[in-house]
Amino acid sequence: MKKYYVTTPIYYVNDVPHLGHAYCSIASDVLARFKRLDGYHVMFLTGTDEHGQKIAKAAAKAGVDPQAFTDKVSQSFRDLAKALNISNNDFIRTTEDRHIKACQALWNELLKRGELYLGKYAGWYAVRDEAYYGEDELTEGPGGKKIAPSGAECEWVEEPSYFFRLSQWGDRLLKFYDENPDFILPHYRRNEVISFVKQGMHDLSVSRTAITWGVPVPNEPKHVMYVWLDALTNYITAVGYPDVNAETYRKFWPADVHMVGKDILRFHAIYWPAFLMAAGLEPPKRIFAHGWWTCEGQKMSKSLGNVIDPYKLVEKYGLDQTRYFSLREVPFGNDSDFSHAAMVRRINGDLANGIGNLAQRTLSQIAKNCGGAVPKHGEFTEADKGLLQAAKNCLVLVRQEFDVQAFHKALDALWSLIAQADRYVDEQAPWALKKTDAARMETVLYVLAETLRHLGLLLLPFMPQSAGKLLDQLAVPEAERDFAHLTEAYALKTGTPLPAPQGIFPRYVEEKA
Ligand code: MSP
Repeated sequence: MKKYYVTTPIYYVNDVPHLGHAYCSIASDVLARFKRLDGYHVMFLTGTDEHGQKIAKAAAKAGVDPQAFTDKVSQSFRDLAKALNISNNDFIRTTEDRHIKACQALWNELLKRGELYLGKYAGWYAVRDEAYYGEDELTEGPGGKKIAPSGAECEWVEEPSYFFRLSQWGDRLLKFYDENPDFILPHYRRNEVISFVKQGMHDLSVSRTAITWGVPVPNEPKHVMYVWLDALTNYITAVGYPDVNAETYRKFWPADVHMVGKDILRFHAIYWPAFLMAAGLEPPKRIFAHGWWTCEGQKMSKSLGNVIDPYKLVEKYGLDQTRYFSLREVPFGNDSDFSHAAMVRRINGDLANGIGNLAQRTLSQIAKNCGGAVPKHGEFTEADKGLLQAAKNCLVLVRQEFDVQAFHKALDALWSLIAQADRYVDEQAPWALKKTDAARMETVLYVLAETLRHLGLLLLPFMPQSAGKLLDQLAVPEAERDFAHLTEAYALKTGTPLPAPQGIFPRYVEEKA
């Protein structure tokens, strides 16, 4: 069986989950579901990043010990995954024994291969980003504070530290990017990474002595691992590392896609393949960097009080509506803005008036005029064949877009089919055929119902519950709900009784103030 391994970043447990976290999980989930339906054995991983100075500080602020603190916040990310209908098959926490063991094994391997050496770090560090910055990258903030390009405040750090020989990996990384042109997507972000590497890189500090909340460095009681070395390793821990002969490791590694936000691309596209190659392991196949959400045109921030709570979105607009909106608004990869108006436009335009209306019109006419069962069809006309063929072509189109994580284009393809079906209904006017040519009316409604079956199946990854309801109404058996069944052999069977139609995509009606 074909395999597919997709991951979300592991989320920092310093705070409660927000829309940014939900977004990355939803995108990864849509991909994982698509691949499962397309016949792949999928491993889909998410989890929490629990070590480092940022988390230690947050725990201290909350007045709890870091383990109790991380237990609690990590649970809130698990709860969110459930609330968003995320279909991950593992949830990793970096404080688990399996992970500590994996990190230490990777460390020992790097040490054995001469990729690490003991030195002293003296430079700038941003706790918020858990990242080291060169003096030349910083700007001066209020009160002479040093500010990283991300906006995070930096502090001067001087401590004994182990270093990873990153400076030696520049050419090998450039060769790797060259040989794997789709390793970093979207391509415009690939260029940013390449120019960064071309500038020349310094060795990377990979242990800290000023903090204790981290994975202990083997045989070095004063050092804990730099949190990014620890965090990135989660992707191999979950498939069985250090046991590289484990069935899961052999089957799933290298990962097919690490889905990440643009802010953490550098860690994934530079450090991670360098660590892996240095340890004699294969790098992942792809890093996809998505954009960031703003809210009503403004950066989301705690101080502005405009951080979007994903639970509130789901409560107000519905889960599948939220999932749909997140991937529909902009090309996947670009930044996007959340606004109430845009959300309502999508719910009412694309869902209620689009797929919802098409399904409702078709199913209610079948209920009323075809005895509530899949209608009979006569010979297909050119118009019928045109729509059926367009429905059949959709899988190939959508699959191509999924292969490059162009979810918006996959949705475009599905909504073109909806538009084509809408034109077909208007042209064929089955309601008028009722009196003049009932047999023809049945054929038209059959063609529409079969088109809806294709739409229902192809929408399953995006909106599992709603698309599932659509398939229920078409009486598509559970065992036939995957892409292998998108063929004529499994087309709707005349005479199959259908349940009474029910609206699936309600209009959003503005609440009265
Ligand atoms: N712990 C690291 C990742 C380690 S992966 C080995 C981390 N965690 S995070 O919780 O700060 O961020 C997780 C993800 O949320 C990142 O991919 C980040 O881009 C994403 N987002 C945070 N805010 C966001 C928006 N406003 N919009 C979209 N995504 C954003 O980084």
